[in-house]
Amino acid sequence: MFLFFGARPSVALTALVAGLIGLGDSQVAAVATQKPPPQRRDYTPRDTTARYDTPEYIVHSARADAVRQAFQRSWDGYYKYAFPHDSLRPTTNGYLDDRNGWGATAVDALSTALIMQDTKVVDQILNYIPTIDFDKTDTSVSLFETTIRYLGGLLSAYDLITSNVTGKGGDSKRAQAILKQAVHLADNLKVAFDTQSGVPDNDLWFNPPRKSGSVHNAIATVGTLVLEWTRLSDITGNPLYGKLAQRAESYLLSPRPKLGEPFPGLLGTYLKISNGQFVDSSGGWGGGDDSFYEYLIKMYLYDPSAFADYKRRWILAADSSMKYLVSHPSSRPDLTYLAMWRDSRTLDFVSQHLACFSGGNFILGGLTLNTPKYTSFGLELVNSCHNTYTSTATHIGPEIFRWEDSRFPSPSQPVPQNQSDFYAKSGFWIDSAYYVLRPEVIESYYYAYRATGDPKYQEWAWDAFRSIQKVCRVGSGYSGVVNVNVKGGMGYTDVQETFWLAEVLKYLYLIFSEDAEWQVKVGSGKNRFVYNTEAHPVRVRRD
Ligand SMILES: *[C@@H]1O[C@H](CO)[C@@H](O)[C@H](O)[C@H]1NC(C)=O
Ligand SMILES: *[C@@H]1O[C@H](CO)[C@@H](O)[C@H](O)[C@H]1NC(C)=O
Repeated sequence: MFLFFGARPSVALTALVAGLIGLGDSQVAAVATQKPPPQRRDYTPRDTTARYDTPEYIVHSARADAVRQAFQRSWDGYYKYAFPHDSLRPTTNGYLDDRNGWGATAVDALSTALIMQDTKVVDQILNYIPTIDFDKTDTSVSLFETTIRYLGGLLSAYDLITSNVTGKGGDSKRAQAILKQAVHLADNLKVAFDTQSGVPDNDLWFNPPRKSGSVHNAIATVGTLVLEWTRLSDITGNPLYGKLAQRAESYLLSPRPKLGEPFPGLLGTYLKISNGQFVDSSGGWGGGDDSFYEYLIKMYLYDPSAFADYKRRWILAADSSMKYLVSHPSSRPDLTYLAMWRDSRTLDFVSQHLACFSGGNFILGGLTLNTPKYTSFGLELVNSCHNTYTSTATHIGPEIFRWEDSRFPSPSQPVPQNQSDFYAKSGFWIDSAYYVLRPEVIESYYYAYRATGDPKYQEWAWDAFRSIQKVCRVGSGYSGVVNVNVKGGMGYTDVQETFWLAEVLKYLYLIFSEDAEWQVKVGSGKNRFVYNTEAHPVRVRRD
């Protein structure tokens, strides 16, 4: 059985991927003696002439409406058959409590409903939020998942409402009710940081709140708290929350010992909670690592003077990625993917749908730092993730894919015989064919569109939306599918993931709708909002 794990980063997914790529201890020892890879020079993005100064945006009202209807359908199915449980099972009209039973879909959908000005859904969710009992749950609580979905969703709603997105002024009564719940939740979660080092235990139990006693934590789950917890401090005026998350992050900004930083700025995955020391060197831009890198530049966007260190670390990671990880499939050298690494000498030519956020993140970095090479490189990555969509029978990209790069001596799994034709044509082969309603490819189209104004990215987003409509729309909502390379998807997972409403439908809506205060802006200092990894926009810090 294939297990599904939450939004972008997931430690469990990393372990799963490690399993899939056969990363046993003995193999790690064996490949460590390989010769170093040849590529040690700076990579120049192919499109160096591009300038993206003053994009003009095109509104597609009919398409934006089609996305709203998809959101309405997803919400109606959930509200009828699953609310106030966490997730809808759309083909069987059942429900799942996979996020502690606090109504995860409702909280995750709120910022999207606000941006779509869907008053009825907004009211349904706002009436519900004060009734959530964040003290009660029977299952273990993930600090990371709870932070990005529930806390991020609540803070974003607070920021959007107090920014008058509803047109009812600040609507301070409803905003305060949301904030009260956010504080209550964070006060239950904060026990996680009560460790010797301050690196949090990601796995908690509530009632009363306590740690489960984990030994390790991963860089994504440690490094994807700082935006939400800092925002909570800034809204409440209580510095404690931001301090806790920033102290945990300090171990990622100054990684020790050396093995934890195999390339400048690029880290291993796991650290010891007792002392904050890294225990491995393997990593990538995929699950378990991803949003640590994402938040480095987003914190700088949040407050450039307070988080200049974070920016320096992002630049190191971005430059090292362009220097050491760039890989062109042997069958399609026109494409560019980022390899994963086992250590400083060994790359794995494997990537994931999750990792396709990286194109958008490079673009955001280029826009934020006014450095076109990052934007150009990001567009190159976006183009290659687009290729994972257009190459399949459904026009939807797979969960995990691989390729070969004959310029490197590292071992590469051979192309499976029954995919050699596919690989010759497409430049990748499929390692896991699922699509579980993930956002990353469309998210990166969104950043590409905002950076360039090039309507081709709207067309790519529309093609992805139509393909998902065709394949994933089923029963009372939308479901993940088993195989993107079989027409029709070969069967349903029967889960409507909460990030389908929080992320996929939000980015689709944003790419077709009018410019607004919360849209990503070109030009440093112009952004009023920054999106957390679950696509919840929070206000940047004001000076
Ligand atoms: C909120 O928005 C509405 C509708 O756009 C506008 O009429 C009103 O003046 C705004 N209120 C504030 C306090 O900005
Ligand atoms: C290729 O063959 C493997 C092993 O027999 C099988 O598991 C897989 O489903 C096949 N893939 C395709 C695309 O036919």
